[in-house]
Amino acid sequence: MGTSFWRRTTIDPPEAEFPEGEHVDIVVVGAGFTGLITALIAAARGSSVVVLEAHTVGAGASGSTTAKVSVLQGTRLSTIRSHHGLETARAYAEANQYGLDWWAEFCGSHGVDVQRPRAVTFSRGVKGTNTLRAEKRTLDALGLPARWYDRIDVPFPARSAVELPDQMQLDPVDALAALVRATSALGVRIIEHSRVTGLDVRGHDGDARVQVRSDGGTCSARDVVLATASPALDRGPTVASMEAERSYLCAFEYPGGLEEGMYGSVESPVRSLRTVPVSDREVLLVGGNGHRTGTAAGTESKIDSLREYAAKHFPSAEFTHGWSAQDFHPVTLLPKSGPMPWGKGRVHFAGGYSKWGLTGAPAAAGIMVDRLSGREPRVSFGKPSLTGVLRTSVSLYADLPIQLAATAVQAAVRPPRPTVRPIGEATADDGETCRVGLLCPHMGAALSWNEAERSWDCPWHGSRFSACGELLEGPATRDLTRYDTT
Ligand SMILES: Cc1cc2nc3c(=O)[nH]c(=O)nc-3n(C[C@H](O)[C@H](O)[C@H](O)COP(=O)(O)OP(=O)(O)OC[C@H]3O[C@@H](n4cnc5c(N)ncnc54)[C@H](O)[C@@H]3O)c2cc1C
Ligand code: FES
Repeated sequence: MGTSFWRRTTIDPPEAEFPEGEHVDIVVVGAGFTGLITALIAAARGSSVVVLEAHTVGAGASGSTTAKVSVLQGTRLSTIRSHHGLETARAYAEANQYGLDWWAEFCGSHGVDVQRPRAVTFSRGVKGTNTLRAEKRTLDALGLPARWYDRIDVPFPARSAVELPDQMQLDPVDALAALVRATSALGVRIIEHSRVTGLDVRGHDGDARVQVRSDGGTCSARDVVLATASPALDRGPTVASMEAERSYLCAFEYPGGLEEGMYGSVESPVRSLRTVPVSDREVLLVGGNGHRTGTAAGTESKIDSLREYAAKHFPSAEFTHGWSAQDFHPVTLLPKSGPMPWGKGRVHFAGGYSKWGLTGAPAAAGIMVDRLSGREPRVSFGKPSLTGVLRTSVSLYADLPIQLAATAVQAAVRPPRPTVRPIGEATADDGETCRVGLLCPHMGAALSWNEAERSWDCPWHGSRFSACGELLEGPATRDLTRYDTT
């Protein structure tokens, strides 16, 4: 599996030393959209902010996304309405509109090119068309200027469609680079290759401060914001109620001709399409084939099937890049921006965008910084209903009770160490053969091998490790145990 198409340009944050022993107002953990926008808003309000990133800026989903900035998100608004009611769908839509408006203002004032195409959700069959009608009814009920098409003229299989005009698309690496420049100009220090491995909240109430331990050193903060996609370090209900979903994207050199729009299908396998203007030509992005991380066999076929789809419907498109990335789907269907239950009001988490973090991240960051500065947040993602959450839990998280039981056991007793440890052997890209322990260091789930990405993936909360056990991503904070191969 290759590198994201967007990675053709690099982001170089200004050199900054780890603030060893220093105390700052806010440590933000993670330098994706959520972390950098939180840092920017907080620094603009006068807070001293340090961002600690395990890898490099944009190493998570933010540097590998499709980067549609849209309030029309497949059929999410009607799904949220059917689970939690119209007022929650309204709050969610308003939060995402806030995110879109935030990008329009930020990109306009920081020299980031954007396009404002329509967003289109399309169906391929009768069942999908019925689902799409429910989305149109919800858009109408929310007063959004949506339009219905019985047929759309596109080169791929599509029947009816719903359109929302004047949405946005951008180059996520350009946007991340602009965020780095803007935050740095306000004195934010971004420290790459500093994985946060421990947080200790000391003191109480107004006197509490958080000791932050990382690969790069130790510092302390009044507040810590985990902008880590899934809540790093958490072993409680927050992490247990989010599902990691991995999906795949391909980029193609394309002579052009697709009517302007950002397209997404109702039915599975989802097909997500958009184009990217690149000087005098276009690049076509085709995505889809999402699955719960650590559960799919034959991952190598996921990119192949996207290529076959493009070859069939866009015969002149030439494949250039294929990659994958993951985002987190909360059982509530709604993103989270608020305190962690164990953080004594000092450790917070923002994330869980179900693959719609472009609009979600500015909203979550705004809510977070408003709360940290004692203001009433201007927007909210809405309130989940208990019955809605139960419905999602039953259909999507069949093993949630097992995870929660594991959480409870972990909290109550130190888990006994198994006497026989499962061990896996795999060959890394450089030809080195490694033997590693196959119990996830996060909460002990059994890892499975992902052939396409040559990684060990965890089905519980999406931690991933290289063939030789190095932690790649997810809520775990350490590598797998390595064993002798002789
Ligand atoms: C294939 C795909 C396509 C998508 N397409 C769209 C789209 O078209 N539109 C849209 O709105 N959204 C889309 N999304 C979702 C969107 O990209 C994400 O929701 C968004 O990028 C999440 O940003 P983030 O900053 O919260 O997380 P991330 O970008 O994942 O950043 C988290 C960061 O935290 C770091 N980190 C983790 N643990 C630690 C630790 N312990 N210490 C220090 N650092 C740590 C990671 O290295 C990472 O850099 C897509 C997602 C995927 C996977
Ligand atoms: S990521 Fe939680 S058990 Fe593996």
